[in-house]
Amino acid sequence: MRARLVAGNWKMNGSRAANQVLLDAVVAGVRSVECVVCVPFPYLAQAAERLRGTQVAWGAQNLSEHASGAHTGEVSAAMLAEFGCRYVLVGHSERRQLYGETDAQAAAKFAAAQGAGLKPIFCVGETLEQRDAGRTEAVVARQLDAVLGKRAFGDAVLAYEPVWAIGTGRTATPEQAQAVHAFLRQRVGAAVRILYGGSVKAQNAAAIFAMPDVDGGLIGGASLVAQDFLAICAAAQRKG
Ligand code: PGA
Repeated sequence: MRARLVAGNWKMNGSRAANQVLLDAVVAGVRSVECVVCVPFPYLAQAAERLRGTQVAWGAQNLSEHASGAHTGEVSAAMLAEFGCRYVLVGHSERRQLYGETDAQAAAKFAAAQGAGLKPIFCVGETLEQRDAGRTEAVVARQLDAVLGKRAFGDAVLAYEPVWAIGTGRTATPEQAQAVHAFLRQRVGAAVRILYGGSVKAQNAAAIFAMPDVDGGLIGGASLVAQDFLAICAAAQRKG
């Protein structure tokens, strides 16, 4: 059985003081589900210091596809590994939409992450316009195939995040999520964990996680509130 994973994506939020309170609460409250917080780069050292030896892993939200050199403002996979990251988000829709990240770039970042021993959490998802045009499967297949065409998925994690559900309060129904997860499952196989992301909250998490091909969640807004994040982690714990 695939182990469930709950990943928090803090996005560009936090402060040293607020992080300390949030990390303390998450460490104190998390039970037996695998969980990771993906924090802004400057807070990796703080996360590493607080979380080392606990059940909570830490990771980053992006990385460079290049190894080193003249890439002002970029951060390499080796740097993330040096700060103890286990996971790194790759190809989040905000990177694709706001920063023009292409499929090819996302695939190159995926390769760079794996090359440094990090587990990519590779994000795919369609816009509302694409869904309405009946192109959901074509879009997520294209995004995923950019990676699969080049290398094995290995122990990376896949995340389905419909763009229209991110930060909007509008979640995919459990059935909508399951349909896309089942489609993705055919391509990556039975062993790969597929997370759902997009307005997952304490109230809707259990119903989404109950779907057979949903192996956990990628949580934005609700990962900033300890009580909400912990409730989602609890919902992800397998019963019996
Ligand atoms: P949300 O974000 O939970 O705030 O919708 C999810 C994400 O962008 O990963």
